[in-house]
Amino acid sequence: MFCYQFLNLKIFVIMIAIFVIAILGGVRCASITFNNSTSFGVATSAYQIEGAWNENGKGESIWDYYTHNTRLITDNSTGDVACDSYHQYKVDIDLIKSMGLKQYRFSIAWTRILPTGQIDNINQKGLDHYSNFIDALIANGIEPVVTMYHWDHPRSLDILGGWNHPKMVTYMRDYADTLFFHYGDRVKTWITINEPHSVCVVLAQYLAARVDSTFPLGTSEYMCAHHMLLAHSEIWGLYQRKYKRTQRGKIGIALSVQSYFPATDSLEDKLAVERVYEYTFGWFINPLVFGDYPTGMKKGIQSRSLQQGFQESRLPKFSKLQQITLRQSFDFIGVNNYISFYVRADRTLSQNPSFTNDRQATVFEDPEWNTNYEKKIKIYTTGLGNILRHIRDNYKNPVLFISEQGYNNQGGLNDTDRVLYIKSALKVVWNAINVDGIRIKSYLIWSLMDVFEWVSGYAPKLGLYSVNFTDPKRTRTPKESAKFITEFLKTKTLTLS
Ligand SMILES: *[C@@H]1O[C@H](CO)[C@@H](O)[C@H](O)[C@H]1NC(C)=O
Ligand SMILES: *[C@@H]1O[C@H](CO)[C@@H](O)[C@H](O)[C@H]1NC(C)=O
Ligand SMILES: *[C@@H]1O[C@H](CO)[C@@H](O)[C@H](O)[C@H]1NC(C)=O
Ligand SMILES: *[C@@H]1O[C@H](CO)[C@@H](O)[C@H](O)[C@H]1NC(C)=O
Ligand SMILES: *[C@@H]1O[C@H](CO)[C@@H](O)[C@H](O)[C@H]1NC(C)=O
Repeated sequence: MFCYQFLNLKIFVIMIAIFVIAILGGVRCASITFNNSTSFGVATSAYQIEGAWNENGKGESIWDYYTHNTRLITDNSTGDVACDSYHQYKVDIDLIKSMGLKQYRFSIAWTRILPTGQIDNINQKGLDHYSNFIDALIANGIEPVVTMYHWDHPRSLDILGGWNHPKMVTYMRDYADTLFFHYGDRVKTWITINEPHSVCVVLAQYLAARVDSTFPLGTSEYMCAHHMLLAHSEIWGLYQRKYKRTQRGKIGIALSVQSYFPATDSLEDKLAVERVYEYTFGWFINPLVFGDYPTGMKKGIQSRSLQQGFQESRLPKFSKLQQITLRQSFDFIGVNNYISFYVRADRTLSQNPSFTNDRQATVFEDPEWNTNYEKKIKIYTTGLGNILRHIRDNYKNPVLFISEQGYNNQGGLNDTDRVLYIKSALKVVWNAINVDGIRIKSYLIWSLMDVFEWVSGYAPKLGLYSVNFTDPKRTRTPKESAKFITEFLKTKTLTLS
């Protein structure tokens, strides 16, 4: 009897204890905190912010050429001055530091270091500029994350054929070697190439439609990507042999990883989603993880090529040695994620070779998203969670950087929508790390400030800071999102509501 009562009391106490823990746990669970394994920062790229397009020995890049000589840019704008960051990099560093961010992903302009693209002509003033910049970042407690190539290769190499030319692999390797040699003592995180898909497909299609089509579409996309992958793996190999032991840095690549949802519940549309993932993202990560292109892409392009009268597949093949060099040639994969799309299967066979036709799918946005940004943001950030799990499950759970994430709106300092987007994305990222076991080392927001957004000129606004582009001083003003980030980073805690 006594024993029984005692037991009862014990159970009672334990139940109270569990109850208290549950309540405390509940209170704790109403907020999430990032630990020190994830770094936070912002991202930019050279052509989009630097200006000073022809100063101190810089050579002409393809973007200097496009903006000055073609009608590629919708608002006729150029990056000649942009945010004037070449001169105002110390201002940028102050902004980054004031928000409490610890990483800055920026890119080096190839044409400042090697004005003609090749190694015989090294521009000392270009080397000095980035050297001073890197020193200033480190002195302010900000880790440099350096993109070697963010789309602005030398015009002289483009005349030669650009990424369609196999020699680009050598030129880019020599350029990378120069960067490792001069900056590798201080730079420990490198991104070789930014978004191969955007250059090889999106830009190529733009050029074909608006400028001139120098390269055959349906073929050049695959050649371009092939050479970028080989350049990346050669640079990786070079670093392992020549620098890794002394410099101990990490090397990755940044891939465009948007998320896709089937337009309907049909099996056809669900399979189309898989194909679109494969053609935008698997195309690059599959060779880097497994040494070769995805099987579906190889089979699909082969059979369509033969139907179209080619003697062999328009998709190039890797040699056995190249496959071995490619396999696991990264320390991390950069995920550049912005938006989501719907996908519909499109099984029509075109006699004209084209990447879009090879993919056998149509990709589109829901017009409703433009009038309901809360719904849009929900879809976008749900999509991010899906794709992170897709990478974990299909590509051996690699170490990831969210190397770009950003939200485009109409501008204005009260960017409520951007704050909601970043908050929602941070929750998804926290969940990915702490629930899904995904190894995310960095979360980098695109962008520090409003920048030159390529063919769209200055119309898209993605910055945490607004830039007055009519002011010669290019004054930067914080938006609400910059204030939100500053508050968030004090505790790295978000309350869930
Ligand atoms: C994270 O690092 C900062 C600065 O080094 C330190 O003050 C803080 O206590 C660390 N937080 C955790 C949760 O370890
Ligand atoms: C861009 O320049 C072209 C040619 O000068 C002109 O026709 C067009 O109206 C301009 N577009 C804008 C948005 O200024
Ligand atoms: C920003 O806009 C939101 C919603 O439109 C509003 O509730 C808020 O008060 C505004 N904040 C400022 C600082 O103007
Ligand atoms: C941060 O959290 C992750 C996931 O729970 C864990 O693997 C990692 O060891 C933690 N890092 C630190 C510095 O506590
Ligand atoms: C931008 O700068 C110009 C020139 O200094 C100035 O006239 C204008 O008022 C500024 N615009 C804003 C929104 O501050």
